[in-house]
Amino acid sequence: MSIHYDVRKTPGDTSWFTRDRFGMFIHWGLYAMPARHEWIKNIEKMTDGRYERYFRHFDPDLYNPREWAREAKNAGMKYVVMTAKHHEGFCLFDSQFTDYKATNTPCGKDLCEEYVEAFRAEGLRVGFYYSLLDWHHPDYTVDSKHPQRDEENRAELNEGRDMKKYAQYMRDQVTELLTNYGKIDILWFDFSFEDKGRDDWEAEKLIETARSICPDIIIDNRTQLEQDLWTPEQFQPREWVRDDEGNLVVWELCQTFSGSWGYHRDESTWMSDEMLIRMLVNTVSRGGNLLLNVGPTARGYFDSRAVSKLRTIGGWMKYNSPSIYGCTQAEFTAPPDVRYTRKANRLYVHLFAYPFKSLYLPELAVKVDYVQFLHDGSELLFECRDGEVEIHLPKVKPDQIVPVIEIILNEE
Ligand code: GLC
Repeated sequence: MSIHYDVRKTPGDTSWFTRDRFGMFIHWGLYAMPARHEWIKNIEKMTDGRYERYFRHFDPDLYNPREWAREAKNAGMKYVVMTAKHHEGFCLFDSQFTDYKATNTPCGKDLCEEYVEAFRAEGLRVGFYYSLLDWHHPDYTVDSKHPQRDEENRAELNEGRDMKKYAQYMRDQVTELLTNYGKIDILWFDFSFEDKGRDDWEAEKLIETARSICPDIIIDNRTQLEQDLWTPEQFQPREWVRDDEGNLVVWELCQTFSGSWGYHRDESTWMSDEMLIRMLVNTVSRGGNLLLNVGPTARGYFDSRAVSKLRTIGGWMKYNSPSIYGCTQAEFTAPPDVRYTRKANRLYVHLFAYPFKSLYLPELAVKVDYVQFLHDGSELLFECRDGEVEIHLPKVKPDQIVPVIEIILNEE
């Protein structure tokens, strides 16, 4: 018995993606140095001249992407997406179309090269985030989200800027990213807004360029041209995401641990361990993926807060990942404080609140063959009665942030 949903078909290959379910986002750039938000150039309306100091001093001497990849793998993440270029315009890779790149800073290295090698070596699939916004490129026009938006001579600043040239620049850089670093699995463009959209990015051509190199790559929909991936951000969807026509789609929630994507030294609204595990479970129980973000420091390492969160998740995933990988929404309605995920003849029951002695599940009675805790494979006795299953639980909650019960259904 396997469960099937009619999910909207798209050009890229999402089969591996909807199995893997859990990835790491990495936001890294010059903004790791001010360490007060990746939008800092915009927020503080910095000129290029003011922002230049970060370029002059960028030197992540402790950059070791093998360590990052080990942390990601240990957390149970199966793929990774890193910012090759964020809105500030700075390129972590050695592009021949700009001087504004890591190789021209004291760092002196192509940071993308080591990144792809390291994560592939740990068996993860590799993606690039590429910002459509660019607050450094001379042809990118000053708009309402630009750092120079409030300058009196805004009209003058825009004289001679040519978005067509910028669109070509993006195509050239995407070509570099997809040809110089081996097989890239995901291309994550970001983003369209009131002032700029698919026509400005020349989205058709941009995507055509990418697909001509890598036909089955997964591309998100933020160029304003629907592709493979819908990307809710920083909130928990309450049900499977749909497109405008109401079709179920492949979706991925992207989320930070705290209030910033880039490394933020003083931001302390970090999610609790329990919230994080619940978020992963909630997402898979609604048919989605989770892309969880780390903002490495300016020295190039994951700070202790990020490492501790990743390791906690890894501790849970070590025993409970069968309820995540290859799983999707179940066809049954779960009682409050319970989340179901489903894979073939297994139904996974996630306990957000631990009940006293008995857990009652309606609607499953005829189908249950065997029941056990997932983390230790210990049997749980159960009774089926009146269209309901009663599972007998030990009085003490197992030492799992979210305990999972595995129900083996008796049809194949
Ligand atoms: C937003 C932000 C950006 C971040 C992105 C990730 O669009 O502009 O800083 O990279 O979300 O989804």
